Amino acid sequence: MRVAAVIVAAGRGERFGSDLPKQYQLLHGVPLLRHSVLAFAHNADVDAVRVVRDPAHAALCDEAVAGLELLPPVDGGESRQDSVRRGLESLAGEEPPARVLIHDAARPLVSGRCISGVVAALDRHPGAVAAVPVVDSLKRAVDGCVAEDLPREEVWRAQTPQGFHFAPLLAAHRTATDTFSDDVGLARAAGLEVAIVAGDADNLKVTTADDLHRAQRLLAGGGADVRVGQGFDVHRFGPGDHVRLCGIDVAHDAGLAGHSDADVALHALTDALLGSIGADDIGAHFPPGEAQWRDTDSAVFVNHALKLIRERGGVIAHVDVTIVCEAPRIGPHRAAMRTRLAALLGLDESRTSVKATTTERLGFTGRGEGIAAFATASVRLPPA
Ligand code: CTP
Ligand code: MG
Repeated sequence: MRVAAVIVAAGRGERFGSDLPKQYQLLHGVPLLRHSVLAFAHNADVDAVRVVRDPAHAALCDEAVAGLELLPPVDGGESRQDSVRRGLESLAGEEPPARVLIHDAARPLVSGRCISGVVAALDRHPGAVAAVPVVDSLKRAVDGCVAEDLPREEVWRAQTPQGFHFAPLLAAHRTATDTFSDDVGLARAAGLEVAIVAGDADNLKVTTADDLHRAQRLLAGGGADVRVGQGFDVHRFGPGDHVRLCGIDVAHDAGLAGHSDADVALHALTDALLGSIGADDIGAHFPPGEAQWRDTDSAVFVNHALKLIRERGGVIAHVDVTIVCEAPRIGPHRAAMRTRLAALLGLDESRTSVKATTTERLGFTGRGEGIAAFATASVRLPPA
């Protein structure tokens, strides 16, 4: 293995001050930890990712990284330094990585450019740190008054990732007797040279609730990569006494024919979700000929599309479904359908919409031969 990333997430988040530790707080519906992990898991310069967690948060951690291909998590320690050391020890087996990146789970907005910059600098240096220059004037204060003006020309704010050649960093951790606030300090004390690499002003560390709000604004603003997917589906009427639409069974003098439960609305929605991330269509993921999908609850298809969106760090902003038929009447079931969509997608109901129309007795829906459905899904992906 060439490059491994260790994401330290075993802190208590005391300064954040919430029962839910800050690394599991949601940023646009996705835990901070997942944002951080995805940045590395999706980076072509990184071969493997390991999370260091507090064993008391095992369930939260498992949920946050569900569906991702990571090395199994390991338990952290009392201090950040302990947690990093444990992460390194877990990689020290028979085939240790040549290089390792250490990253705080609490920095969810780290960019691919920043990660790749640190990796590249390790070709020339045993250590490298993402950092930003200080633009404000620097003052030393005593009793609330400025006691001294300090030069800022040589001052940088260190972020993570911090990258190192693996063996010397592990050795430095094993022999360290002092406590350091980051790995640059520890590595330098062991004599390793650490290069500065351009960090990113947006790569903030979430320490307080205010920081989380700032991250939310950054992600919602210029940064977010907004996508809209659309889907369309038709099912013909067949024998039966009800149709299933948006997961709700509606009494009717016919059923809908289809391989699965024939929920035409959820099929259109699944295609809209897949479309938002350019991930083919429902037939490509669930071939209709395959016996295992017979009579399947179409919620399974929606869940799969949702998982793919989440794997990309995406967040659904809104879904809108239009059902086209002369009968049955949709209006009386609209509220239940929205509730069901919201539950399926983990959204507030205000972010769902169900509409219905007839086609004035024209065309196949007008003749009562079947039901059609359209859907759109608006999705925010992390900054490109
Ligand atoms: N960290 C860790 N193990 C610890 C302490 C911290 O893995 N024993 C991790 C945190 O989860 C975080 C990163 O190190 O991702 C940076 O630490 P910090 O921002 O200080 O987080 P916390 O220690 O959780 O917060 P606080 O200091 O406010 O309690
Ligand atoms: Mg701390």
